[in-house]
Amino acid sequence: MDYRIKGRRALVMGASRGLGRAVAEALLAEGVATAICARDPVRLERTAREIGAVGIPCDLSQAGAGAKLVEEAARRLGGTIDILLVNTGGPSPATFDKIDDAQWRAGFEQLWLSAVSPIRAALPGMRAQGWGRILLVTSIAAREPLPNLMMSNALRAGLHGMANALSREIGPDGITVNALMPGYTLTERLKEAGFKAEEVAKTVPLGRIGKPEEFAALACFLASEPAGYITGQAIACDGGMLRSI
Ligand SMILES: NC(=O)c1ccc[n+]([C@@H]2O[C@H](COP(=O)([O-])OP(=O)(O)OC[C@H]3O[C@@H](n4cnc5c(N)ncnc54)[C@H](OP(=O)(O)O)[C@@H]3O)[C@@H](O)[C@H]2O)c1
Repeated sequence: MDYRIKGRRALVMGASRGLGRAVAEALLAEGVATAICARDPVRLERTAREIGAVGIPCDLSQAGAGAKLVEEAARRLGGTIDILLVNTGGPSPATFDKIDDAQWRAGFEQLWLSAVSPIRAALPGMRAQGWGRILLVTSIAAREPLPNLMMSNALRAGLHGMANALSREIGPDGITVNALMPGYTLTERLKEAGFKAEEVAKTVPLGRIGKPEEFAALACFLASEPAGYITGQAIACDGGMLRSI
């Protein structure tokens, strides 16, 4: 299929490794000029060089960082950001009893405001040209809460509500917004979190853990011209984990 996004400009957040990197690679393969960000400048620069992206160091948990990032990416890529993938890094695992008010506020900054502020910054350019694709990386935990992931369960479900409501406001401007829910996908984060691949695979209907490039294929399609009638949705790439219909 011809995705008809060659020559477009994308900003893929949280992309020096993992799901973000896979999405950036998929977009670059479609001929999309792509900027990526992450906190660690050394790894970011290495990834940017390896895949042919523009690397912009940024800590998205800092107030206003996402908006500045959008501005800088547009400047470095030479025009409006057409495709924005919001991916802000996951929260630490915890149950309700272990999270105090200060941690809820910090979690809100990290998972919520850091997602909203770049969208706000990207919208004027997308509106002016009457075309845009906004993608939010959330988690299957936002649809069906997972044990010990209270912050992700609670806050990411709210992002789905925001994305659906936003789709109605920006639809008339030719902009779509969708959330992508990864299930267990083999990234560094999953390995570092101590998940045992064989054990996890037994809980997945397809009997295996997902590959980052499978998630990236979904993101790339949703960013494409042919996906122009899909908006306000939360779509899983999870090997069949979610049961809700
Ligand atoms: N992999 C899975 O199975 C899975 C399942 C469900 C949901 N998710 C969610 O999907 C997202 C991506 O997961 P992943 O597995 O790709 O994670 P990952 O392998 O840890 O990659 C995260 C990327 O984001 C960057 N990043 C993290 N925090 C950042 C911040 N504050 N500012 C800027 N960049 C930041 C990291 O680089 P730096 O550390 O250098 O900043 C890295 O490039 C996470 O939100 C995760 O919760 C993943």
